[in-house]
Formats: sequence, structure tokens, C-alpha cells
Amino acid sequence: MPERNLNFDEVVDRKNTKCLKYDFAVRRGLPEDVLPLWVADMDFRTSSYIQDAITEIARHNIYGYTNVQRGDGFFEAVSGWMKRHHDFDVKPEWHVITPGVCFAISAAVRAASEPGDAVIIQQPVYYPFYNIILQNGRKPVSSDLVHNEDGSYDIDYDDFERKIIENRVKLFILCNPHNPVGRVWTREELLKLGNICKAHNVTVFSDEIHFDFIWNGEHSVFQELDPSFRDFTITATAPSKTFNIAGLQQSNIFIPDRTLRRKFREQVGIAGFDEPNIFGIAAAQAAYEHGDEWYSAMLDYVQKNIEFANKYVNEELPEVKMRKPDATYLIWLDFNGTGLDTEGIEDLIINKAKLWLDSGKIFGKSGEGFQRINVACPRSVLEDALSRIKNVL
Ligand SMILES: Cc1ncc(COP(=O)(O)O)c(C=O)c1O
Repeated sequence: MPERNLNFDEVVDRKNTKCLKYDFAVRRGLPEDVLPLWVADMDFRTSSYIQDAITEIARHNIYGYTNVQRGDGFFEAVSGWMKRHHDFDVKPEWHVITPGVCFAISAAVRAASEPGDAVIIQQPVYYPFYNIILQNGRKPVSSDLVHNEDGSYDIDYDDFERKIIENRVKLFILCNPHNPVGRVWTREELLKLGNICKAHNVTVFSDEIHFDFIWNGEHSVFQELDPSFRDFTITATAPSKTFNIAGLQQSNIFIPDRTLRRKFREQVGIAGFDEPNIFGIAAAQAAYEHGDEWYSAMLDYVQKNIEFANKYVNEELPEVKMRKPDATYLIWLDFNGTGLDTEGIEDLIINKAKLWLDSGKIFGKSGEGFQRINVACPRSVLEDALSRIKNVL
């Protein structure tokens, strides 16, 4: 059966579908008519294999408690994808299902630290990291990334280690690839971070949710870089970004260390999560078994969108700086050259251009002056968004 959903140019109306991206502008204090390119989901229909798997369950029409076990095809599909695309050999006993990566981060914070303990992150970074640490009564500490003249970002290892020591950090939440700056951390960079964490007994939560969107460089699964890293790492993956199925809430967490896994599972249970969602499981299995054709066509389309945006920004928006991301479908635009302050930039984007992007300030203080724009949309929508910015500048 051939893949049917390969028309990424199609503009699908997502309004009035309880869609977080399209239906919540007014509720969140924005004008009703903003064009949304904020939250990280795609405006594309997913693979027809996923659609068919879900339809089959809907036809069966019984949605009782669901679970998976070795041999029923689910784990085999997940591990097949990890091996095929990331040369990552996952063992069934490492595997823990959670209803999302943020849920897993929250459980990891409680499993690997005590109330009041410090947890380190690298801002500007995916903003729920900071909030989840705070909400769990822990102390967020940031070793901010270094922003270079050419727009690239690096790690300040001395600062990272000093902050770990000074704050007696217990957990590091690593974002690899990094949202929003689009870095794919190299083996050398990850090894340095890992060795610092190892030396100071810091558990690592390696959030690799964007690992299927690599444009430049090579993604390394952190826990596989050194056999000893398996002893203190929780690796988070999910089909949600890759196949645009975030609403189905299914993620696959791998924890080789038995004690860490037990503590993590305990926190998942304390949060009240037991069996997974029937649709999430079916979708993930179909995606990982049959989604390769859709996935590679989607990658090709999104990569062209990134090229399109890069050319547009360079040629038409001289006040704005863009560096092509090495990974993710998120573009980190630097508006500091407009001479506007954060409020001025937000007014320009929201009220004048009528766009809903993610303001850089929510990613940490070092994100001020930036806007994050999601380019996983039909090219006509992206062109509309960029021309709105051009018109108001
Ligand atoms: C780095 C990162 N982690 C986690 C998530 C969210 O994952 P989930 O929807 O599975 O909680 C996102 C979504 O944008 C993300 O960018």
C-alpha cells in the first residue's frame, strides 16, 4: 500500500479543532487574526499509515485499558527505528512509556533530586525545562550558551562545571539537538559535558526529541558515547515531533541503569500514569514500522523551507539575522538589529505583522531580542509570514 499523504503544500484548515496552535490566540491575550508559527507542531497531515492504524481502532470501537509487551510488535517497531535511524541498540528492559517528554522530565526531576536541589540547564532553552524544575520545588540554574558574533552558539565548560560545583547540582537537562538555537552537539562536546557530570555525580536527562530532524552534522545519542554514561542517563525520545502526533501523547524513555529506572518508574506511578493511550501506541507503531517514506519526503520539504527562509531573511530583512539551524524545524531569528527593545519587537510581530511566534525572552534572559519561528508549514504560509515581517520593517 503506497503512502497517500505526501502533499505538504496543502493548506489544511486547523481552526476550530481544539488546536493549541490555531484556536487559543484570544485566550492567550493575542489578536484573533494572528497567523500562528509558534508551538512546535507541523501543519502537515501525518502519514496515511498512522491514519489507517487509528481508523482501524476506531472501527473496532472498544477503547479499553491498553498495554504493550515484548513480541506484540510495539517495542520491535520502536527499537527498529532507533537502530535504523540512530544506530541506537535499545534493550526492552530499558524502555519506559510516558505520556510525553515533559511528563518524563518532571518525573526525572523528582527521581534524581530532592526538594531544594539545583538542576542545571543551558539557556536559551525550551522553556518548560525551567518551569518544570520550579514547579517541582527545585532550583533552576543556567549555564547560558555563549552567543558568537556569527550567530552560532557554544558551551562554556568552565562556567558549566563551576555552577555544578557551587550549586551542588544533582541533575542536568540536556537538549540535543538544541531547541531553540538549532545546534547538534558534537561527540566531543557531549563527551566533555558527560565527563563533567560523571565527575560530580550529576544525573543527565538527555532530551533527544528533535533527533530525527538533522540537517547538518551527525546526531549522537548521548548515553551511547561512553559505556559509563549509561549509568547516569535517562534518554527521552518520541515519535511526536517526527510524525506530527503530539496530541497522541506517546514517548519512549530509555534508562539502562536499574536503580535510576526504578526511581523514575516510581515517580511516573506517583504522578498517576499507568497504561498508555490506545491511539498513541497504534500511531507510534505504525509510524516506526511504515513511516519512512512520509518521513523522508517531509524532511525534504522542511529543509527546503529552511533554505527558503534563509534566502528571504538575507535578501529582504536586512535588520534581522538568521543562522541556518543544524537541526529542528525551528528558526531562531535575531531582531536585535532593529534597534527595538523586547516590547517593541513583540508589538511589531504581534500587533503589526499579526504573527504569533515564540518570543525569545521565554527561553531565558539570553533569548531576549529573538523570535522563534516554526517553519514546518506549507511554503505559502511561510512566505506569507515572512512577507508580513518585511512589510512592517
Ligand atoms: C526539546 C523539547 N522537549 C520536549 C518537548 C515536548 O514534548 P512532549 O509534547 O512530548 O511533552 C518539546 C516540544 O516542543 C521540545 O522542543
